[in-house]
Amino acid sequence: MTDQLAKKSAAWSGRFSEPVSELVKRYTASVDFDRRLAMQDIDGSLAHARMLTSRGVLSAEDLAAIESGMARIREEIARGEFEWSLDLEDVHLNIERRLTELAGDAGKRLHTGRSRNDQVATDLRLWLRASIDRSIEGLRALQLALAELAEREAATLMPGFTHMQVAQPVSFGHHLMAYVEMFARDEERLVDARRRVNRLPLGAAALAGTTYPIDREQVARELGFEALCQNSLDAVSDRDFAIEFIAAASIAMMHISRMSEELVVWMSPRVGFIDLADRFCTGSSIMPQKKNPDVPELARGKTGRVYGDLMALLTLMKGQPLAYNKDNQEDKEPVFDAADTLEDTLRIFADMVGGIRVRPERMRQAAAEGFSTATDLADYLVKRGVAFRDAHEAVALAVREAADRGVDLADLGIETLRRFSPAIGDDALGALTLEGSVAARDHVGGTAPTRVLAAAQAAMRRLAPPTGR
Ligand code: ARG
Repeated sequence: MTDQLAKKSAAWSGRFSEPVSELVKRYTASVDFDRRLAMQDIDGSLAHARMLTSRGVLSAEDLAAIESGMARIREEIARGEFEWSLDLEDVHLNIERRLTELAGDAGKRLHTGRSRNDQVATDLRLWLRASIDRSIEGLRALQLALAELAEREAATLMPGFTHMQVAQPVSFGHHLMAYVEMFARDEERLVDARRRVNRLPLGAAALAGTTYPIDREQVARELGFEALCQNSLDAVSDRDFAIEFIAAASIAMMHISRMSEELVVWMSPRVGFIDLADRFCTGSSIMPQKKNPDVPELARGKTGRVYGDLMALLTLMKGQPLAYNKDNQEDKEPVFDAADTLEDTLRIFADMVGGIRVRPERMRQAAAEGFSTATDLADYLVKRGVAFRDAHEAVALAVREAADRGVDLADLGIETLRRFSPAIGDDALGALTLEGSVAARDHVGGTAPTRVLAAAQAAMRRLAPPTGR
């Protein structure tokens, strides 16, 4: 063996009489993607080494050598100077080998009482915890942008739809606040999932625990974990925390995708309710007139890949007996992909929503079409003693008449309307106005502009970054 080969031979090679083929090496290695865990791997190793030192397993000199070696490795990685080697399989062995180069025997002692099985589970949890925190920030920024727009547009009227048909007028702010509700639930789900991400597997070693006098609480405290995984077999094999995260991410992306669909429709020239800032759109290489809503369309598309990540992980786990199996190495790419997609999408959307230009006249015009206040006329009749079913029938016949004539209900005039119900009074046309229609829905959860304003301001208070210190 040349020096170079000896240097890079696998950490477990002692047991083996022949090396793996190049193809198998590539097939089994994970360093190309798990190097993203490098900083978490170092954090975990330092906490482990400090604990071993305080328990008398490592000497103070060993710890000092490990600490200065790791500081150097951090810098090398940050500067892009670290030499990653496929021969060393994964992020853990790459860092350990470099540490041994820098710190000698102390580096070789680091892995005492530990396995890559509990190590990688720890790294992934640390990485995911930080990503969840960024996504929670992103969700809050998006909610805040929506609530601020809703506050400005509380009295802007648009058609509310059912079955994609104009149903009843609503406040545009109300429509936006529906998404604040969705993203608030997404935030709750991430906060909840984070509690189960934030448990320490380290100490489980390969699967059965370790014979060294470890102090898992100390490691948990140093790394900011709020609890310990309570069973060593479960600790190394559990990936529920990752599945829960991707499930929550999938739901959040589903909400993003629904909103995207609306943004695309609203921006279509035929509808023209809004305009997105140019920086979120692109033109066409052939049609000079086009301004395409690429960002919402891409977000709608990327929702599919996050669902795919969820299916990948659920399927990865379903056949695994206890405890660790190499299958688990396949958990990282779906987790990274879902986390990256969610984080990026949320940041972009918060910015994009802040830059929405509203075209209230187009919304209003659309709200006035399609007999959107017909329900209000029926309610008017009910208040004058007509049973709702009869009122509904009378207004339906009036709508048919107006549709035949190609006019709006109000254009029929009081005399004609009275033919459909004698309960129509001289004030009936007032019930048909858009403003009257929304203002009358004045209860918690209703679309009356005063209620929308209150809901938007309550959300803004909840989401505003804390002031003062
Ligand atoms: N690269 C491995 C993973 O991602 C680390 C754990 C390897 N453990 C083992 N026994 N081969 O899961």
